[in-house]
Amino acid sequence: MIGNLNHIAIVVADLDKAIAVYRDALGAKVSVPVDLPEHGVRVVFIELINAKIELLLPIGMDSPIAKFLEHNPDGGMHHICYEVEDLIDAKKKCISQGLRVLGSGEPKIGAHGKPVIFLHPKDLCGTLIELEQV
Ligand code: CO
Repeated sequence: MIGNLNHIAIVVADLDKAIAVYRDALGAKVSVPVDLPEHGVRVVFIELINAKIELLLPIGMDSPIAKFLEHNPDGGMHHICYEVEDLIDAKKKCISQGLRVLGSGEPKIGAHGKPVIFLHPKDLCGTLIELEQV
């Protein structure tokens, strides 16, 4: 059911530092930061050949990733996003297999303007999983 890896999201405590290490030490192609206030994040996209890395900095008081940073002050991997052909079908299949969909369970428009759902990390080896409609 899942297709390609779309992105891995990493929460960072210091975005400038994160940009510098990815650009200068790892030689990555790093985008300019983009604010997504509706998601409570400032994000930098790193384009790899086969996937993206997203560096996320919480913005705003009610950012959903602010708590993550409290628990992980150095930052850390936040979620993995897999592409699916049919999100509604994928959601049904996940639920039928006992996986929990976070929030209302209804797809939301994600950071790339496409519908997404998130699956509970406790059901998936301790990793928050995002499914994105291709
Ligand atoms: Co994501």
